[in-house]
Amino acid sequence: MKTRTPISIGIAATLGATFIIFELSDNSGYLSSPFFWGLLMVIIFLFLIMNSIGDLVEDGRFKTLSDEEKEEYLKEKAIPYFQKLWNSAFKKQSASEEKTLLIDHGFDGITELDNALPKWWIGLFYGTIIYCVVYLFAFTLTDYAHPDVEYEVEAKTQLASIKEYEKTAPAIDIETATYSADNIAEGEQIFNTNCMSCHSESGKGGIGPNLTDKNWINIKQKSLFKNVFWMLENGSPNNPTMRPFIKDGVITSRDAEKVAAYIYHINREKVPITEAQGGAAPQGEEAHWEE
Ligand code: HEC
Repeated sequence: MKTRTPISIGIAATLGATFIIFELSDNSGYLSSPFFWGLLMVIIFLFLIMNSIGDLVEDGRFKTLSDEEKEEYLKEKAIPYFQKLWNSAFKKQSASEEKTLLIDHGFDGITELDNALPKWWIGLFYGTIIYCVVYLFAFTLTDYAHPDVEYEVEAKTQLASIKEYEKTAPAIDIETATYSADNIAEGEQIFNTNCMSCHSESGKGGIGPNLTDKNWINIKQKSLFKNVFWMLENGSPNNPTMRPFIKDGVITSRDAEKVAAYIYHINREKVPITEAQGGAAPQGEEAHWEE
């Protein structure tokens, strides 16, 4: 009669596997889910039931053993589990045992033995088959492990967190707005969507004035960058066509900071687009910006 694997090993291995499965299934927050802890309790409970049934069966069988067998069984049972595992790895068959395992072909004294596969190996083998079936069903019937679904979920959380950031991040005002060359490219995109209809491409002017030349109608700030920001915040005092984009909620103050960087760039760092090149005629007076 064989000794049984201790219940503690069974529980530890199953709980370990459960943890790994939950960890892998991207179920962050499972540690605070009552379902998870309930499942662990059920597993432990089932093990306790199985163990008591095992005890009963073992008792019954033990009684049927001869005295000699009983003694051998008790001796075997006294060896700690891991010690037994270790020993079994280096176990050698006796010559008589080998004879029963011999596959009937040999050559030159080399023979083949039909050893039973180790339990852990068989366990892994059946485990992979079960996993395969579960995975196949989960994959075909649910959203589990589909890259495009995972992508959509990730994108949604990303967008939500950006929105959250926009809500809580301090708004930029005329005092804190600063020029950065890094904002030019993004500013150009914002210009093309929100401003180009009136100021034309590259800001050369149309319904709205030429933004690339030295002449300005509205000079409200000492620096060009801040002047653009001021215009976006307040709109034009003379002409409602140039609306207060920030106050109207058309663009955020952070976008205004970027688009102002773009206008600074086309006005101060590039040559003006003149009338001869298709730009609008200068309007207002020549501005002398501090920066
Ligand atoms: C619906 C047309 C329209 C749109 C869209 C528009 N503007 Fe204007 N913008 C104008 C007009 C018209 C003026 C001239 C206002 C005035 O006469 O005071 C102007 C003036 C300005 C000025 C001041 C120029 C000066 O000489 O005083 C700046 C800077 C400016 N706009 C930037 C922008 C930016 C940046 C955007 C996009 C976010 C934008 N505008 C979108 C029509 C528009």
